Amino acid sequence: MTTLAILTAAGSGTRLGRDLPKALVGLDGFPLVVHAARRLASSGVVDSLVVTCPAGLDSAVRDVVAQDPHVDVPVRVVEGGATRQASVAAGLALAGPDDDVVLVHDAARPLAPPRLVRRVVEAVRAGHRAVVPGLPVTDTVKRVAPGRDESAGGGPAVERVVETPDRVLLRAVQTPQCFERTLLERAHAEGAGRAAAEGLAATDDAGLVEAIGEAVHVVAGEEAAMKITTERDLLVAGLLLEEES
Ligand code: C5P
Repeated sequence: MTTLAILTAAGSGTRLGRDLPKALVGLDGFPLVVHAARRLASSGVVDSLVVTCPAGLDSAVRDVVAQDPHVDVPVRVVEGGATRQASVAAGLALAGPDDDVVLVHDAARPLAPPRLVRRVVEAVRAGHRAVVPGLPVTDTVKRVAPGRDESAGGGPAVERVVETPDRVLLRAVQTPQCFERTLLERAHAEGAGRAAAEGLAATDDAGLVEAIGEAVHVVAGEEAAMKITTERDLLVAGLLLEEES
């Protein structure tokens, strides 16, 4: 049986303020999507890769990823959808009959190390059907009521706190997330509707699995799997890369 990795790279990444999609922004001379693909390939546990790309950029993405000498697994490129979830679904539609395990990873986390890829795949192969990496949360996190609180009628904009969850039990979740393929397919088919009906957040693939009432497990995450959203994140990633070499 084989492991398929879906690498999502179809976002626009407007917060980086560049005139090209985030996945194609350079870090140490290579696009983010190439860094991510290299680490997936060199984990030794990925058999093939599907990269989701922005409309019209399939040949550009194929050129940089499939021709990179460090990406030594078969690569297919598919146009993504309007949302990340639609992009993952487009990649999942290309799963072959032997792909019993599927990884979903964001090109926006280009430095997720190969050992993290192995960790999530090993946990799924050991029998956990949906596994995500997570880091302990160091800040105190508060849940607030939606919208502004107008009770004072003046001063700066305020929100009302409704809950302070015990941070010992909170995890900041990363990618790659790993799933039994049949479970991920069912989560994509049924999860979004269920989440919407029950008011649950399904902002990642694991959220869709939770929404259909199936268990999700967390393994230890990695600082290097940080998400690149802003120019500052890109600078931090550059420092991490220096540290790596
Ligand atoms: O925008 P954000 O950083 O949250 O996107 C997370 C990942 O999902 C990125 O790697 C992005 O390229 C991908 N994405 C996608 N299709 C979309 C939107 C985002 O593949 N429509």
